[in-house]
Amino acid sequence: MSRPTELPAWQALQAHYDEVKDTHLRDLFAADPGRGERLSAEGAGLYLDYSKHRVTDETLRLLFELAQETGVTEKRDAMLRGEKINVTEGRAVLHTALRAPRGAVVEVDGQNVVPEVHEVLGRMAAFADQIRSGEWRGHTGKPIKNIVNIGIGGSDLGPVMAYEALQHYAQRDLTLRFVSNVDGTDLVEKTRDLDPAQTLFIVSSKTFTTQETMTNAGSARAWLLAALKDDAAVARHFVAVSTNAAAVQKFGIDPAHMFGFWDWVGGRYSLDSAIGLSLMIAVGPEHFRELLAGFHDMDEHFRTAPPEKNLPMLMGLLGVWYNNFFGAASVAVLPYDQYLAFFPAYLQQLDMESNGKSVTLAGERVNYQTGPIIWGQPGTNGQHAFYQLIHQGTKLIPCDFIGFCQTLNPLPPHHDLLMANVFAQTEALAFGKTLEQVRADGVSEEIAPHRVFEGNRPTSTLLADRLTPRVLGALIALYEHKVFVQGAVWNINSFDQWGVELGKVLAGQIAPELQAGAEPELRHDSSTNALIRRYRARRG
Ligand code: F6P
Repeated sequence: MSRPTELPAWQALQAHYDEVKDTHLRDLFAADPGRGERLSAEGAGLYLDYSKHRVTDETLRLLFELAQETGVTEKRDAMLRGEKINVTEGRAVLHTALRAPRGAVVEVDGQNVVPEVHEVLGRMAAFADQIRSGEWRGHTGKPIKNIVNIGIGGSDLGPVMAYEALQHYAQRDLTLRFVSNVDGTDLVEKTRDLDPAQTLFIVSSKTFTTQETMTNAGSARAWLLAALKDDAAVARHFVAVSTNAAAVQKFGIDPAHMFGFWDWVGGRYSLDSAIGLSLMIAVGPEHFRELLAGFHDMDEHFRTAPPEKNLPMLMGLLGVWYNNFFGAASVAVLPYDQYLAFFPAYLQQLDMESNGKSVTLAGERVNYQTGPIIWGQPGTNGQHAFYQLIHQGTKLIPCDFIGFCQTLNPLPPHHDLLMANVFAQTEALAFGKTLEQVRADGVSEEIAPHRVFEGNRPTSTLLADRLTPRVLGALIALYEHKVFVQGAVWNINSFDQWGVELGKVLAGQIAPELQAGAEPELRHDSSTNALIRRYRARRG
């Protein structure tokens, strides 16, 4: 298989789309009173209602056939076996090994990696406990109270998202900060009220070469030494998380204070590796282990559940249906939980860096759409901002609503109101309001068209009992595997990210041109040359 569009199931879906594209959810529900319960699935503590999707049983049958013809389960098994499915980098893709239980066997090049995973987890836990208990002292003898993670992309978004998500479980006398942007404002604002003597920096970078992270780490070291005035302080105030031991040592961090991981962990899949050290310090090793257990629950669900009950499979295939047949360009992810405020941003990297590709595994240009644009905000804020367009605009935007039956902050009546909005929004999006209904409300003929809701706007609703570390792990793994399913159908490599390289290389060339004393000879296009000259002339 090279292009999925050539497969019988794809072609059958195309013909089927022409037949069902105008079918309304109102009619699908009217024809099947049990639809709301029938089109649901449950796994790893998550309940998925996918009944409000524009699908019939035939659509689902054809989507499962597409999964079969594109070899999704074989590709999944190859990933789980440690085969080098990241072909452009010659690497295995084994984030699932990061949450494998102690006794499991997962081999890379004939070697079981699970013992190393648990060895690092053990070192992380010992270190986290030392910080949390105050046993680890800074250079002046004071305990650490502030933890600043310096990293970007996968070395930032996972920890920051999960820290926000699990704040309820955090040790509240510790202050966590996350510095990512090369804009000096990020570091300056996040450190301005911190006492250097009580601050620990965790430099998190898989490669330990990333410009933003290395620049921030260098400035953080200068900030620390300006206050503590002794190079020896670095050892008590800096630790590293990386796969690059040599670069860590060169930076001046003691290898004993480095927590490693492996090239078979992609940056955007690395939260549950040592990249999660800041999170583990915040919430403690036990909660971190619970998070890993949740990831593993979903891995097992993905590995064993039949397609029609398999959450990542269902969400992945439904996404293909809208992306490739309805031409929907984006997906909105709408968590109805303030703790999940960073979840859409996290998913942007996970999904868009993974599936933002335009050649197949064989290097041929695709002639179909691949990864969607992911966006969203926590409810109910989005309702007062962009939902108007989702309800009445001209674009089809499938939405994922995420909610919890129990709140972590019982403050009547907030939670019932919050969840009422989840159910109301998905009901309104699916069923809308007809012209007849609007007229029946006594609205004038002139205004009536403005008050019509077409409906037929598809949504998934994900419900869990409570936002626990375990549920968060399952939720993240659900999206990881959803992305996998879609990449497998599109026959692309979801595990490289060459698309970020060109900009990095050009920035590396332009930075010295901005910094040069004498007017540099510029060899860019006329636009870039003019912008560089204007910047140099006006930067002060
Ligand atoms: O954005 C590109 C990228 O390589 C991401 O995939 C990665 O998460 C991020 O940069 C940070 O890389 P590193 O952890 O090596 O600093």
